[in-house]
Amino acid sequence: MKRNLLLTLLMAFVLVIASACGGADDGASDDAEVADDGKDYVLQAGHSLPNDHPYQIALEQMAKNIDERTDGRVTIEIFPNSEIGAEKELTEGMTLGTVDLVVSSTAPVTNFIPELAVLDLPFLFKDRDAAVEILEGDIGQGMLDKMEDHGIVGLSWAENGYRHVTNSKHPIEKPEDLAGLKIRTQENPIHISAFEELGAQPTPMAWDEALTGLQQGVVDAQENPIIVADQFSLHEANQDYMSLTGHVYSVAVFMMSKQTYDELPKELADIVVEEGEAIGSVQRDLIVEMEAESLEKVKENGIEVIEDIDVAPFQEVVKPVYDEFQDEYGYEEVLNEILEAQ
Ligand code: PAF
Repeated sequence: MKRNLLLTLLMAFVLVIASACGGADDGASDDAEVADDGKDYVLQAGHSLPNDHPYQIALEQMAKNIDERTDGRVTIEIFPNSEIGAEKELTEGMTLGTVDLVVSSTAPVTNFIPELAVLDLPFLFKDRDAAVEILEGDIGQGMLDKMEDHGIVGLSWAENGYRHVTNSKHPIEKPEDLAGLKIRTQENPIHISAFEELGAQPTPMAWDEALTGLQQGVVDAQENPIIVADQFSLHEANQDYMSLTGHVYSVAVFMMSKQTYDELPKELADIVVEEGEAIGSVQRDLIVEMEAESLEKVKENGIEVIEDIDVAPFQEVVKPVYDEFQDEYGYEEVLNEILEAQ
């Protein structure tokens, strides 16, 4: 009895101490809090786009804010242009703890976080405003929270603009114009299936391989937002036509490895998370600002832009994809919520 009483008292003491040490809610779970060791930290951040793209500009801003707020104790080294891996590899790197921070389109992230799959369904969002409202609301927050189950802390939603088809063969105005076209897609089963429905021949590959594929004529076409066509000079990669199909609103996401989060002293980890949470909307505004200018540059560079496209026939053809992946990704409920919200 005496021994039991002692044990109970000991356990109660431990519980009181543990709860007194608990910190504020910061969006990531606090299961392994690291005491501050006074050390400095260098974190590696990767993405696939060039130095003048909003992914980079936003990461630089985030790095500056973190440097200032931590008195130089946390330095973020940024690697653009897939220098430390393309988007799929970067995401995997975060789950393994070999990459600390990433901003990536959601399509390849889905390979590790199936809960995001719904975001890559074609023609999902009515328009950009509806997409932002949904992502910034409970639905989007629920998805960011889910990422932690897969070893990644979801920080904030970003974007790259609407995806459009470019190709080397002819103007695309209706689904039939895609017949037999060899098109590079992202490494995402939903994208692949949508282009199969449209009669094209999709080849999934990472973006750093896609450019060579286009230059060498291994593929005739690709699909990406306007800013990508501009910043990667796709007119020099045989892309003579761009059709503004807007088939996917390219959601992107700022992320941090959970392993990195757990290894940082809590005070520093919280600052990184807070700055990561704030940077998404800054990045999105930059895309909106830069997109119109990119469209002009694409035209000046000689790409014929087909702007006035009736998307209804494209929507009709890709419809079966919604049902096709429902079981695999289990997105029925969240899909209905997204559709009802707009
Ligand atoms: O097509 C892709 O892989 C992506 O859209 C890109 C260009 C890497 C930007 O996120």
